[in-house]
Amino acid sequence: MSNTVICPGSFDPVTLGHLDVITRAANMFDKVLVAVLVNSSKRPTFSIEERMELLRDATDGLDNVEIVSFEGLLAEYCKSRGVNAIVKGLRAVSDFEYEFQMAIANKRLNPELETIFLTADSDSMYLSSSMVREIGSMGGDISNFVPACVHDRIVAKLRG
Ligand code: COA
Repeated sequence: MSNTVICPGSFDPVTLGHLDVITRAANMFDKVLVAVLVNSSKRPTFSIEERMELLRDATDGLDNVEIVSFEGLLAEYCKSRGVNAIVKGLRAVSDFEYEFQMAIANKRLNPELETIFLTADSDSMYLSSSMVREIGSMGGDISNFVPACVHDRIVAKLRG
């Protein structure tokens, strides 16, 4: 099995919870591809370029992390990159059923593919990108929720 893993997501925008999972994966595996979903049926707040740039800056210093984007099925993308493991964060019991379903579906689509779950750290248990978007757009303080180096750019975008 290749020692490269994929951390997939929408990252709209990146949060400290995402960064926690990416950092821990980078400490465990040789290479981490952070794969940003290009979802044409959703209207993200941050464009694909913005989401990738925020992630690039947030992970600056993690030499084995690469930011990529993908369209279509994650299982197919993993196959095309020769990657056999997905790493995701599990925040609460409420995440479990959905994540379990996705892990099974991905394995059906690509039997080589394993999904590895890291339990979110206690500070990120409640965090989500939509919470960041809502608090930030209403002028609230999001400094405890997003990486410091990208905080100002996220705030500027959310306050429009
Ligand atoms: N810390 C903080 N927040 C986290 C988090 C973490 N560790 N992990 C997930 N989240 C949050 C996100 O911020 C997001 O919040 P929001 O809904 O409030 O915006 C929410 O959890 C969902 O995450 P998101 O990245 O949008 O989606 P997902 O985790 O459900 O899955 C993909 C995203 C890309 C993995 C999935 O949609 C996919 O594989 N798509 C490709 C199509 C495909 O293959 N479909 C079949 C799958 S079986």
